[in-house]
Amino acid sequence: MLFSFFFLYRVPVLVLPPIPTDASNDLMEWFDESHDVFNSLKDIMLSAYSERICRLNESAKRAGEVFWWPFTQHNLVPEETVTVIDSRCGENFSVHKVRDNEFITQQFDACASWWTQGPDAILQTELARDMGYTAARFGHVMFPENVYEPALECAELLLQGVGKGWASRTFFSDNGSTAIEIALKMAFRKFSSDHGILLDFFKNNRAEKSVELKVLALKGSYHGDTLGAMEAQAPSPYTGFLQQPWYVGRGLFLDPPTVFMCNSIWNLSLPEWLHAETVELDNTTFSSRDDIFNKHRDKSDLAGIYSSYISHKLSQNPGLKGFDHIGALIIEPVIHAAGGMHMVDPLFQRVLVNECRNHKIPVIFDEVCCGFWRLGVETTTNLLGCVPDIACFAKLLTGGVIPLAATLASKDVFDSFVGDSKLKALLHGHSYSAHAMGCAAAAKAIKWFKDPQTNPNIISEGRLLKELWDPELVQKISSHSAVRRVVTLGTIFALELEAEGSNAGYGSLYASSLIQKLRQDGVYMRPLGNVIYLMCGPCTSPEVCRQLLIKLHRRLRDFNKVEEKLVSC
Ligand SMILES: *[C@@H]1O[C@H](CO)[C@@H](O)[C@H](O)[C@H]1NC(C)=O
Ligand SMILES: *[C@@H]1O[C@H](CO)[C@@H](O)[C@H](O)[C@H]1NC(C)=O
Ligand SMILES: *[C@@H]1O[C@H](CO)[C@@H](O)[C@H](O)[C@H]1NC(C)=O
Ligand SMILES: *[C@@H]1O[C@H](CO)[C@@H](O)[C@H](O)[C@H]1NC(C)=O
Ligand SMILES: *[C@@H]1O[C@H](CO)[C@@H](O)[C@H](O)[C@H]1NC(C)=O
Repeated sequence: MLFSFFFLYRVPVLVLPPIPTDASNDLMEWFDESHDVFNSLKDIMLSAYSERICRLNESAKRAGEVFWWPFTQHNLVPEETVTVIDSRCGENFSVHKVRDNEFITQQFDACASWWTQGPDAILQTELARDMGYTAARFGHVMFPENVYEPALECAELLLQGVGKGWASRTFFSDNGSTAIEIALKMAFRKFSSDHGILLDFFKNNRAEKSVELKVLALKGSYHGDTLGAMEAQAPSPYTGFLQQPWYVGRGLFLDPPTVFMCNSIWNLSLPEWLHAETVELDNTTFSSRDDIFNKHRDKSDLAGIYSSYISHKLSQNPGLKGFDHIGALIIEPVIHAAGGMHMVDPLFQRVLVNECRNHKIPVIFDEVCCGFWRLGVETTTNLLGCVPDIACFAKLLTGGVIPLAATLASKDVFDSFVGDSKLKALLHGHSYSAHAMGCAAAAKAIKWFKDPQTNPNIISEGRLLKELWDPELVQKISSHSAVRRVVTLGTIFALELEAEGSNAGYGSLYASSLIQKLRQDGVYMRPLGNVIYLMCGPCTSPEVCRQLLIKLHRRLRDFNKVEEKLVSC
């Protein structure tokens, strides 16, 4: 048996002498006889450990030679700043430090590993077990015209949860970007079917040559980096000629009003076009964050101003060239994450959705980043107080452990693809559509996050996360002279550093020194230019979040001193 264990798994097998039945003499002889066995066990473990440390020790160097990191300028990454991750437990990385005496230390992953992560240490283990079982049972199986339990359970959970009240179908894909591409195809079909374009097509067996479908979208939103998804975003450093020479920008892009906290007060920031309207708003501040989301605002003057602006834009647009149509509205509800963690006035987005409904323009919610508790609610429809026709989910959908995406659609959207011809179907799919392991993880994570038995942060009958970021500290930080604005919502705390010229914007390196200091404090962050953020999981305890804010606040004080010195020189 032992030998088969060795041959099967290549695990060294050590055999202890049998323990004598007569335990007199304190087992002294037995220990004598066993001595060598324990010694070889110790040697094996020590040598495995030092081999691992050796590999870790040189891995930053090897990485610098072979990797092409995403969103990274390699010239700006010295070897000693590369983070060598040995493992992850819950929200923490175990990081191998090479400099000054090697050691392994814990860092809180405040990027939530690129906005995907949710598990605490317990859920991580649960997910590993469920995925292990599913991998062994299914490996990978193809999806079209098939059903297997994890996919079925996941689809039903999605429709009863985030899709409740509006969605009737789940389309699986493998990442957020493709979930968006699918959503656009769905929306354009629905639009064509509602506006007679499809009928013309079937009559003439071809589309009117010059029909061009565009999206209505907001400046600063980001919907993924595949070529089609990028067309749905306004010009930005991500779409310029340097990055994407094919980019045209097939959209009407509106500049949205935003809200943020500054000097402890939530305040509205209006875009140019609103100033141009020469509106005098006597009151742009809010008494609390909840006030911003309050439906009473639907009756305010501001709602009227938003509404007439949007309907003006919509009536202006079709007919630009005669055949230009706004075929879809696509928004990231409430938070523009990649665009710099801006909070869009939810009233503006709600009015936008309603106006598009009136014009029979299908509405897409891109909840890839903000869905599944990222903003403190399972779906952002709960925050905005309105529902879409199509919504996209990924990242936290599986708890974040494995890639999976889902595009949910209403019955009406689905029906615009139904017919006798295969050519009318949605001819789209990926090799790993509805991957069994992903679906199993999603099913577990969806149930885990909303159950108060497993997630201590759940309040309000499973509809809300409790406040995770200490309000007093948040106010303090928002009043700091180095800070331009603060945004907190759900698992996100973000701040923009006061910066001018080349220090501002996505290309800025302004926050780098601050970030390096915080990494020394055990907080792993990565800046978006002069915007920095902390992101936790839906189960992270408020006390852990408070400690993060304390560390950040302390480093901000020093940051300011350095800046003052620079100024006085
Ligand atoms: C780690 O690498 C450094 C050089 O980069 C070397 O000086 C040190 O001895 C190495 N440590 C181990 C345990 O290999
Ligand atoms: C994460 O690291 C912190 C600091 O070392 C530690 O207090 C905490 O227990 C760790 N959490 C987990 C889940 O390991
Ligand atoms: C998403 O998936 C598609 C299709 O599998 C792939 O082409 C694309 O590169 C992926 N994008 C990202 C951002 O992972
Ligand atoms: C709110 O923002 C406006 C500019 O948008 C500014 O003039 C005003 O002073 C701010 N109010 C407070 C209380 O900070
Ligand atoms: C203006 O003041 C009232 C409180 O009197 C508040 O409820 C409202 O939300 C404020 N702000 C805006 C932008 O309407």
